[in-house]
Amino acid sequence: MKSHDIQHWITTTDPRALGNLYRRADDCRRRFVGDAVHLRGLLNFANICRRNCWYCGLRAERTDLPRYRMSQADILTCARRVEQLGYGTIVLQSGEDHSMDPVWIGEIVRRIKGETGLAVTLSLGERHPLELEVWKRAGADRYLLKFETSNHDLYCRYHPALAGFGGNRLGILAWLRDLGYEIGTGFMVGLPGQTPADLRRDLEMLDMLQPDMIGVGPFIPHPATPLARILADMPARPIDQVPASTGMTLTVLALVRLLCPTANIPATTALGTVDPAYGYESGLTCGANVIMPDVTPRAYREKYEIYPRPLPPSEEDGEADHRRLMDRIRSLGRSVGRGPGAAVSFGHHRGEKNHETSRA
Ligand code: 5AD
Ligand code: SF4
Repeated sequence: MKSHDIQHWITTTDPRALGNLYRRADDCRRRFVGDAVHLRGLLNFANICRRNCWYCGLRAERTDLPRYRMSQADILTCARRVEQLGYGTIVLQSGEDHSMDPVWIGEIVRRIKGETGLAVTLSLGERHPLELEVWKRAGADRYLLKFETSNHDLYCRYHPALAGFGGNRLGILAWLRDLGYEIGTGFMVGLPGQTPADLRRDLEMLDMLQPDMIGVGPFIPHPATPLARILADMPARPIDQVPASTGMTLTVLALVRLLCPTANIPATTALGTVDPAYGYESGLTCGANVIMPDVTPRAYREKYEIYPRPLPPSEEDGEADHRRLMDRIRSLGRSVGRGPGAAVSFGHHRGEKNHETSRA
């Protein structure tokens, strides 16, 4: 897809043209990755973070937020539950917690791989190449590290660097790939200051990287962050600001599918949060083929508030939530994926491109 086509799609408001785009993305999804929706159990096992991203509720400067790190035993219990629920993957996610012993993480990965049939995805931020290697050797299958925005100025402003750490996310992604990980990346839609040209470059970045997994979700302001305060002080939205809307996110999802046909693409929690009634369904019919249900124990969930989101009413409702999700998937005529659900491109035709090129 050419630059000006991408630019056209992210700026058009013609509902018929957008409907065609969504259908093309849905066809492309069916053709390249099929009807199965893969479920990944997302375990936010620690909320300690040394960074101060302007958009995130876990930022280190939030001293009012109680911090936690789950024990190995509790993490193992959650992994077994993920397997019982029939999901093929556990995603171990935390803030960028460098007080956490990398050997400890390696042990958890090794135990999950030894005691369950789950694939293990790590999402632990920017880490040293040696740590990434230790975890790969322990059996980790995949790693998520979003580049968040391809606009260097916005990235540096919103994601302040730490002394002594380069923060070269693209370099880390290349390293992860060389180590044999399936790699996941992505960005936010509607970050304050993001223009349509930035969004086009975000999509072009994905086209260039051809990652195995791609997460894109709308920006949701968290009241305890600098970005929310800046937004509250702004009299009106600048004319070239990309909206953090469901519609914009769906357009981006559809374009991501057309640009990276074989990737695993989730209908993200952020999309499910801005549109609780239909967010997942809309995502799954505009190119997505993955959902990442949150399996974090309730006691910790409210402390893992990257952005505000509702909590399920009670622990039992975790079960009810799970059944509802299965029903929602089946009501779309889609099946629930079995097994680990690796990217179909992984290890086969990585790097090959299979682009849809023309406008509808
Ligand atoms: N709104 C939406 N997504 C966010 N993330 C962080 N803060 C926000 C926010 N306010 C996303 C980023 C990050 C992931 C952990 O959550 O993409 O990589
Ligand atoms: Fe930490 Fe990640 Fe939040 Fe940044 S986005 S403050 S690195 S948890």
